[in-house]
Amino acid sequence: MFKTTLNIEGMMCGMCEAHISDVIRKTVPDAKKVYASHSKGIATFLSEAIPSEEELKNAIAKTGYSCLSVESVPHEKHGKMEEMMKTDYKNWMPKGMVMGSACGAALLLIGSIVVALIPIAEPVKKVLVPILFVVTAIFLVVTIWMYLMYRAFSYNGKRKMSKQIIEGVASYVKLPDGGKGLDVGCGSGALTIACAKRNPKASFTGIDRWGKEYASFSKALCENNSKAEGVSNTSFLQGDAVKLPFDDETFDAVTSNYVYHNIPSSDRQAILLETLRTLKKGGTFAIHDIMSKMKYGDMQEFAKKLKDMGYTEVKLVDTTNGIFMSRWESAWMGLSGSTILVGRK
Ligand SMILES: C[S@@+](CC[C@H](N)C(=O)[O-])C[C@H]1O[C@@H](n2cnc3c(N)ncnc32)[C@H](O)[C@@H]1O
Repeated sequence: MFKTTLNIEGMMCGMCEAHISDVIRKTVPDAKKVYASHSKGIATFLSEAIPSEEELKNAIAKTGYSCLSVESVPHEKHGKMEEMMKTDYKNWMPKGMVMGSACGAALLLIGSIVVALIPIAEPVKKVLVPILFVVTAIFLVVTIWMYLMYRAFSYNGKRKMSKQIIEGVASYVKLPDGGKGLDVGCGSGALTIACAKRNPKASFTGIDRWGKEYASFSKALCENNSKAEGVSNTSFLQGDAVKLPFDDETFDAVTSNYVYHNIPSSDRQAILLETLRTLKKGGTFAIHDIMSKMKYGDMQEFAKKLKDMGYTEVKLVDTTNGIFMSRWESAWMGLSGSTILVGRK
């Protein structure tokens, strides 16, 4: 038995839910426990076999709604403890940073008011008060920006941008039965787990440095998320993307999402090559990051270099043109240049 979850855009009410449920029943005649929720923007059902993603997407598109993703996972009856477990993928904009910035803004505001009211030398006040208010305003703007990012990324929010990106990247990752995949900089395990779910007959390893800049991500968190998702074909270990602890040509697929731009380096193409070193000949790769010229150098040249090295189907896909996000979102969120590098070794 498989449980399929569809992310659907455009459902507004109970009628829409009924409409979507009908489409699912018609497209997958053996579908059971069909459920749609306009508030969550999802529909789920159980079926004996994995349904065709393309057929579902096409059938839903014909009704005027838009199906953003389809995900099927093996469905087993869980024990009470497992049912109580919930996934927690945290947020790419750490909550602590948003709170820290908000506290800084509040303290600065209080400080500015106190300085404005206490009796100090007028010339000092004239200089100090405007400076303090300007710094407070900057902190406030940054806090609002961070909060909006946090909200857009959140797995519990309306936009669910992280989920859309994770599912989008995972859709490029194909593994043969019994194959092995690697997710570099796995964070809270979201992409590793999404790839493992899509390739239930293969196994997927997530590796991360788990340093203090993303203190809420950890190996234990990845393992808990895997368990909560009912996924057992994953494993996680600590390691550095710059020097991966794997032999050449270990994996049938390698992937990564928004990792390498975080690594201080004057040569991020070298980090890409380090990841590709671990890929078997014929294996697929899907690496998503902010691949602007400033961060990565000339990526068109790099793609050409890969082709010269014998790689095939090499493509650089701009993900800011609506695939994962709109141009406007990428601009205000500082994600301009987001690109997925895909191909086969
Ligand atoms: C924005 S998060 C993305 C996490 C995950 N890929 C995802 O899509 O949810 C960036 C991740 O890169 C990891 N990272 C940064 N530098 C790294 C390095 N040198 N080696 C391995 N992981 C690293 C961080 O620990 C963090 O988990």
